[in-house]
Amino acid sequence: MDKQDYIAVFDSGVGGVSVLRELRRLMPRENYYYFGDSANAPYGLKTTQQVRDLTQAAAKKLFSKGAKCLVVACNTATAAAIESLRSTYPDRIIVGIEPALKLAADRHPHGTIGIMATDVTLREKKLSQLLERYSQDCTVIRLPSPGIVELVESGKADSGEAMELIQKELGPYAPILDALVLGCTHYPFMKNAIRSVVGDQVELLDGGEGTAKETQRRLKEANLLNDQQLGTLVVENSSGAQQKIDLTYNLLNQE
Ligand code: DGL
Repeated sequence: MDKQDYIAVFDSGVGGVSVLRELRRLMPRENYYYFGDSANAPYGLKTTQQVRDLTQAAAKKLFSKGAKCLVVACNTATAAAIESLRSTYPDRIIVGIEPALKLAADRHPHGTIGIMATDVTLREKKLSQLLERYSQDCTVIRLPSPGIVELVESGKADSGEAMELIQKELGPYAPILDALVLGCTHYPFMKNAIRSVVGDQVELLDGGEGTAKETQRRLKEANLLNDQQLGTLVVENSSGAQQKIDLTYNLLNQE
């Protein structure tokens, strides 16, 4: 393995760009290979086994392209498949994003924390483990958020339709929340709509920055950080549609 090999970043679609953004901000010299599996999105409504199989297939493909490390930029894939990936590739660096519950609990002890995530993430044992470990003193409200991934995938994150959906799903909880964990990598792209519904007093948290820092830590430890030149980016999407590639770059360049 070489310092100049890719950091592979994988998501069920374009959502993982919210993590890629943080990775590139922190490690601009790295070469990235972003793979979005939009042909199979949303993962959040599939069975755990289906998500595991799709994630294994993506990992196999990305490691065969010579990736030095894999970032699973999908909370759903992490919840369903990270253990199985680690046992298939025990010698590889694999980092998986998780909902930022620890951060939320640290910042809001005894607070009321909402967690928005896909059905798979909300039902998998990884989430119960996180809750048990970090959020015992908090009140945690699980907020399944149907339809959001589809809106982001179709480039409608800032539409009136998005506003209406967020109002319907989050409006009733806004007055009681101290923090809201965006537990799916597609959701940071809905931040404008979310912020306008929950107001300024609710802190919005996601795991993108923490995942980027953890990736940097692991690469440094393995002496695999690229110190050569300005990094490159390759984008691939399983849908084969140019519209998804364009959307990936649009989201990446958004602030
Ligand atoms: N972006 C994925 C996540 O972080 C889920 C999207 C999907 O349901 O495909 O959970």
